[in-house]
Amino acid sequence: MSEPTTKFLLPEDQIPTAWVNLMADLPGEPLPPLSPATMQPAGPEDLSAIFPMALIQQEVSTEPEIPIPEPVREAYRLWRPTPLYRARSLERALDTPARIYYKYEGTSPAGSHKPNTAIPQAYENKQAGITKLTTETGAGQWGSSLAFACALFGLECEVFMVGSSYDQKPYRRSMMQTWGATVHRSPSTLTQAGRDQSSHPTGSLGIAISEAVELAVQREDTNYSLGSVLNHVLLHQTVIGIEAIAQMEMAGDEPDVIIAACGGGSNFGGIAIPFLRRKLRGESSTRFLAVEPAACPTLTRGVYRYDYGDTAGLTPLMPMYTLGHDFVPPPVHAGGLRYHGDSPLVSALVKEGIVEARALRQNDCFAAALQFARTEGIIAAPESSHAIRGAIDEALAAREAGEERVILFNLSGHGDFDMAAYDAYLSGSLEDPEFSEADMEAALARLPETPPVG
Ligand SMILES: Cc1ncc(COP(=O)(O)O)c(C=O)c1O
Repeated sequence: MSEPTTKFLLPEDQIPTAWVNLMADLPGEPLPPLSPATMQPAGPEDLSAIFPMALIQQEVSTEPEIPIPEPVREAYRLWRPTPLYRARSLERALDTPARIYYKYEGTSPAGSHKPNTAIPQAYENKQAGITKLTTETGAGQWGSSLAFACALFGLECEVFMVGSSYDQKPYRRSMMQTWGATVHRSPSTLTQAGRDQSSHPTGSLGIAISEAVELAVQREDTNYSLGSVLNHVLLHQTVIGIEAIAQMEMAGDEPDVIIAACGGGSNFGGIAIPFLRRKLRGESSTRFLAVEPAACPTLTRGVYRYDYGDTAGLTPLMPMYTLGHDFVPPPVHAGGLRYHGDSPLVSALVKEGIVEARALRQNDCFAAALQFARTEGIIAAPESSHAIRGAIDEALAAREAGEERVILFNLSGHGDFDMAAYDAYLSGSLEDPEFSEADMEAALARLPETPPVG
């Protein structure tokens, strides 16, 4: 008998050659983004001040697959394909009949899934003659990834890092600087958007986005780059799910449930979309679970309507679940999950009941991350700990039900720069802030007047 496999590894020539675009398979017409100036459907001209045309075309494309440019595949070769693991040790610890698999994106140079989109975004901006990119970063994972991608393609990079993360993770800032980026604590005094928010010193992703967009619109040679939410970002992340389909075939299993942490939705979309396409085509009955923090419960407590992508209202309005564009979430350690809105694509799938959503408290997530570290070895990013909690809960439910469930989750990143968060958990000082009804009512009162989303 052959020995049991723990890592399912693909050779480099199986790095995907095309991304999967779910827009082609969605029922009905997608709702357009709206221009913040006119509240009318936004056209390419509303986006061209900050994005190159190639990315705008990807954003609105309805082609089922979009070829990956060869220079992007060449950069992907630095760490892709990423491994898929069978969590045998965790399964034993849980005494579950479930088979648990995880796709590990922490092997990228920046330590998460984010370079999957940073690389093609830097590449297309370079092709368009842009010399500098601005961006925001919550956890520091996205800023690190864009700094790395800009270094590869010879672009300048300026990052606005959410204040609470800037204080919690000084070495993320050092990483970005090592790759040549300039990093500011947000809210900063460099922009009007930052100066207007000086009363919120812990910052938010919405504020940091406003700062980065404000700088980008001022200069022809500078564009803005977003690490989540938009269709083209989810598109780039589908390399995760495409590889996972091949690796699950190697393992001889078909997932019953796919789980991922959801901030702006690109991590969840990245693993889920290639599998979702099979479900929408009637080829599978897989369940999908997006997990978010109870402190920022966009999909589970937010309202589904048009809202701005940033705090100052500079970006187009998108149809999505939102807690209100000026909501400043409490400074939980999963900084990458502190976004007031969510991807329109993921929001629509949740609205249609095709994707389930669950909100979890950070202490419960860290308890799961510790159990995972002590069985599988990897110290997960606080964001990824939400997926681990979700997977463990599914495995325990399978044990209760006496079912052989197959669980696949995306371990989106390592937490090697997040030890302050682990320290807080280990010393018992980690808080569990929750979103209140009063927060929700205040946010709703400040939402812009927009057309209904049906
Ligand atoms: C490690 C990690 N996992 C998950 C997420 C959430 O990703 P997304 O915004 O794509 O949902 C982030 C965001 O920064 C992250 O850093």
